[in-house]
Amino acid sequence: MANIVVNKVELVWPGKYNEVGTLKEVPRVNLPFQVIERVNESRAAREAAKGPTQLGLFETWRGDEGVTFEEGWRNKLIWGDNLLVMASLLDKYAGKVDLIYIDPPFGTGADFSFKAEVGDAVLVKDQSILEEKAYRDTWGGGLGSYLQMLAERLVHLRDLLRPEGAIFVHSDVHMGPYIRLLMDAVFGEANFLNEIAWYYYNKMHDSRKKLLPKAFDVIFYYVKNRGANYTYQSITEARGAPVRQLKRKKVKGRMVNVKDEQGKVVYQEKTTKVVDNVWRIRCLQPANKSEWVNFETQKPVDLIERVLSIASKPGDLVLDAFSGSGTSAIACERQRRRWIAVDVGRYPIHLTRKRPTAANGVRVLGFHSSPVRCAADLRHAAPTWQEGPGAGPHRSGRCACDDR
Ligand SMILES: C[S@@+](CC[C@H](N)C(=O)[O-])C[C@H]1O[C@@H](n2cnc3c(N)ncnc32)[C@H](O)[C@@H]1O
Repeated sequence: MANIVVNKVELVWPGKYNEVGTLKEVPRVNLPFQVIERVNESRAAREAAKGPTQLGLFETWRGDEGVTFEEGWRNKLIWGDNLLVMASLLDKYAGKVDLIYIDPPFGTGADFSFKAEVGDAVLVKDQSILEEKAYRDTWGGGLGSYLQMLAERLVHLRDLLRPEGAIFVHSDVHMGPYIRLLMDAVFGEANFLNEIAWYYYNKMHDSRKKLLPKAFDVIFYYVKNRGANYTYQSITEARGAPVRQLKRKKVKGRMVNVKDEQGKVVYQEKTTKVVDNVWRIRCLQPANKSEWVNFETQKPVDLIERVLSIASKPGDLVLDAFSGSGTSAIACERQRRRWIAVDVGRYPIHLTRKRPTAANGVRVLGFHSSPVRCAADLRHAAPTWQEGPGAGPHRSGRCACDDR
């Protein structure tokens, strides 16, 4: 039996330590990225840039674009297992990412397959080999393998983050306590800022269950270094009903009541309040035709926009390594943040490509395949493009992820 020295409170699971009692090393393989598709904002922008949008079949990404939109930065939708993808991103992006939001799987399977309604029938897509592997890595050994999966990825996420960066990790209440301990271990307890409750007040409940209805998820908010000058912007939201409040002001560092000439306290009517750690944001329902894309674990864009408003600035680089239907990418497009989104599923990648960023249907996606997927996928012809007014580019060619 290995002699494991435990000198602080820590979460342990089967497989965390190897046979000689040392922590398993996090795999760090640097693989090349293969560019599948490049999308420009408009024909005019493309012509102005005088750059090719059609790429050779075996063109690889050299990562030589600038770091701002002006310098030619391209957002990236990356298809592959995020452990390999992040290890490969470290080469160029270690310490460069301003903000991370992740929403890792916390169900058991719903995250790796999808259901779509076709007429009256419901189509269920089986997992591909890579999705099956990701599923096995995640749930094959129960909670232990889940924690190992996440712990390894958190290490890469931390290394990608700037010293002034912040990370938001979305979880449900079942996984929440474990994830909090993992976050403490990787990011440090001192760097914990908040546990946010996302209160989805409109969720339909199953009244047959003998327990209180579940109405919130948790989001852990950490910074890489609490001592650094990290971005934090206090934001306000509308109150349900206006309240009458005492008017207060700061005098010599202390808050005191404001008084009028007669020495009486002054009241004011407040219609807004500072956003605290309980976020009352509706969850998506299939009836919400403008936003719902039929992705079971899809989160509302407003939720991620709130994260962006609090902890990032326009032009900042945002990473979502479990991107699903691409909600973070959409939120970033709306708020002019640069973004990298990663997913192992073909369907989520396909969905993100198709998903409009705004009401006018514009899509602005830079699209790179992951190191591991591309070889097989490149058999498909390079795409051709059509552009119409008010619409993003549409493909007339087929992409590998159409082929599900
Ligand atoms: C809970 S969903 C994210 C939902 C997303 N926030 C949205 O609004 O659509 C989790 C996603 O993580 C992806 N995923 C799971 N394991 C992964 C891995 N090892 N690498 C990359 N993506 C992974 C799944 O394919 C799934 O799309």
